[in-house]
Amino acid sequence: MLEAIRTAKLGDDVYREDPTVNRLEELAAKKMSKEAALLTTSGTQANLVSVLSQTKRGDEVVLEADAHMYYYEVGAFSALGGLIPRLVRGRAGVMTSDDIEGVLRPSNIHFPPTTLICIENTHNRAGGTVWSPSQTKTVFDFAKSRGLNVHMDGARIFNAAVAQNIDVRDLTRSVDTLMFCLSKGLSAPVGSLVVGDSEFVDRARRYRKMLGGGMRQAGVIAAAGIIAIEEMVDRLKDDHANARLLAQGLAKIEGISLDQSRVQTNIVIYDVRDLGVTAEEWVARLQEFGIKAGAVEGTRVRMVTHRGIEKDDIDFTLSTAQKVAGQIRREQVSQTT
Ligand SMILES: Cc1ncc(COP(=O)(O)O)c(C=O)c1O
Repeated sequence: MLEAIRTAKLGDDVYREDPTVNRLEELAAKKMSKEAALLTTSGTQANLVSVLSQTKRGDEVVLEADAHMYYYEVGAFSALGGLIPRLVRGRAGVMTSDDIEGVLRPSNIHFPPTTLICIENTHNRAGGTVWSPSQTKTVFDFAKSRGLNVHMDGARIFNAAVAQNIDVRDLTRSVDTLMFCLSKGLSAPVGSLVVGDSEFVDRARRYRKMLGGGMRQAGVIAAAGIIAIEEMVDRLKDDHANARLLAQGLAKIEGISLDQSRVQTNIVIYDVRDLGVTAEEWVARLQEFGIKAGAVEGTRVRMVTHRGIEKDDIDFTLSTAQKVAGQIRREQVSQTT
């Protein structure tokens, strides 16, 4: 990637004159079987321009209750788009058409019009869980029967495809628009892509400019992105295998609870409540050994496998977690005696 960045052909992408960005956008559109694509600075910006391009102020947007767009994107679509979130509690991050139908209200002068349904594949807060092609299609068909659009936050869409051993198009066929990240599992340093029909991408391009995301010689980013798409997808299966190993080992440690059915891709979420510590305390204890984990909230902890994390690192993480859990239990016994 560094070599590709060094030798990238560059131009001014605000004028659409950067050949490397143009190549990346064409590649992304083709991979997803859509008309056009747009490079953005981040997944958050990609989701925001996607939503703004398909709604107007005062519209209602349906989202899963734990959606990244609702939870972690600073309320951008409400703050900047004047949109109202309508939350649906899914199962492992997946909503059904019945779930969505249950919250939709009829057209009435008192209600905001609903225009967009957002789905997340893989679902981050549910633990990297996947939507299957048929789950996606059911929601899409329902949306179309109600005149609604579907946007997919596909930050990790290639993880979802690899985990199910399917072509990514089997998942993108049943959405109007999507975004996916070049960073995260695909290992590029920066960037995400918005994908959909040409009219939508033209609108998204204007919103990206409005949000300060029009970049000039952005080919330095796109060059790494091309390698991300062309060369980094197949190796995601290694991340998934490492995540499964990690989950199996963590589940054996006394005081840790973990639902292995949720470990479908490269994310492992588990609970340390029975160790009597908060997620933040646990994360700090692991950090002392150079292991990075994230506190989701309360006693829930998140670990992610990615390029550069090998089986030896999983073994080291498991033996360290075992050791730290033992220390915590001993400290608690000595405090109560
Ligand atoms: C599902 C999902 N969507 C969107 C994003 C936002 O991406 P970014 O951090 O590039 O803004 C993330 C980031 O973790 C994510 O997990």
